[in-house]
Amino acid sequence: MKPKNLKEALKNELSKKEIQYLISSYDMVGDIAIIEVPYELEKKEAVIADTLLKLHKNINVVVKKTSEHKGVFRLQKYKVIAGEKRKKTEYVESGVRMRFNIERVYFSTRFGTERLRIARLVKQDEDVLVMFSGVAPFPLVIARNSDAKEIYGIEINPVAHKYGLENVKLNKMEDKIKLYEGDVRMIVPTLRKKFDRVVMPLPKGGESFLDMALKAVKGNGVVHFYDFLHVDDFSLAKKKIREACKKAGKRYKTQRLVKCGQQKPYVYRICLDVKVYD
Ligand SMILES: C[S@@+](CC[C@H](N)C(=O)[O-])C[C@H]1O[C@@H](n2cnc3c(N)ncnc32)[C@H](O)[C@@H]1O
Repeated sequence: MKPKNLKEALKNELSKKEIQYLISSYDMVGDIAIIEVPYELEKKEAVIADTLLKLHKNINVVVKKTSEHKGVFRLQKYKVIAGEKRKKTEYVESGVRMRFNIERVYFSTRFGTERLRIARLVKQDEDVLVMFSGVAPFPLVIARNSDAKEIYGIEINPVAHKYGLENVKLNKMEDKIKLYEGDVRMIVPTLRKKFDRVVMPLPKGGESFLDMALKAVKGNGVVHFYDFLHVDDFSLAKKKIREACKKAGKRYKTQRLVKCGQQKPYVYRICLDVKVYD
């Protein structure tokens, strides 16, 4: 009989003590399963990965994380430990297909619900700017799930930008989405356009680009500002907005604060939706 989960499938391969260390949850990006192997099980990683591969038909590659997100591009390292030797895959979310190499770009499946939330806020004929657009998941999910007029994206990682362009073509969205490669700080002043909505999916350090977002947003437009904050410090996000708007000489109203992910115990990724007036 087929084992019902990874723990059961490994009961003859791992000791009772080793089973206690096993992290049986994993992330799926397309057909790649991303597992975490605790130090105590490193010698058993091959058998764990092979077992997972055999257990699920939809998995073709098993990788383990070997670093945290690092650098401006927010990249993470992975090692293939079972299945096909590749890190490129195709992922489907909210009606769009996206192809990318998981090690060369930032991508989080855990942001999917948030992308759809933003798309559903977009009203007919809005012009939307997505700063930090990566492989274009926000632009694509917004284009597919709203009646936006035009969506612009800006991304500094050339590899992510290239995948973004490919994904726009793959989804036949060339008439709605325009992607720019470069630093938000350099690109925004060249756009000569203002937007009804500016999305800022850079939770670590995004506040240093609030001046750009406030320049790009139309009067009565909305800025979606992301941050990682401890549950006791959510008011810090409001303080960052207050100070940036004061500096830019803009009035604003906080519409809502949304928890849209958990980074570690008590630390959440939050989004502050802010209406900005001239
Ligand atoms: C947290 S990721 C979000 C990517 C994408 N929006 C998503 O949801 O998967 C942040 C992205 O911002 C890009 N980035 C960082 N600094 C930037 C800058 N100054 N200008 C443009 N893009 C930048 C990184 O390369 C990375 O792809």
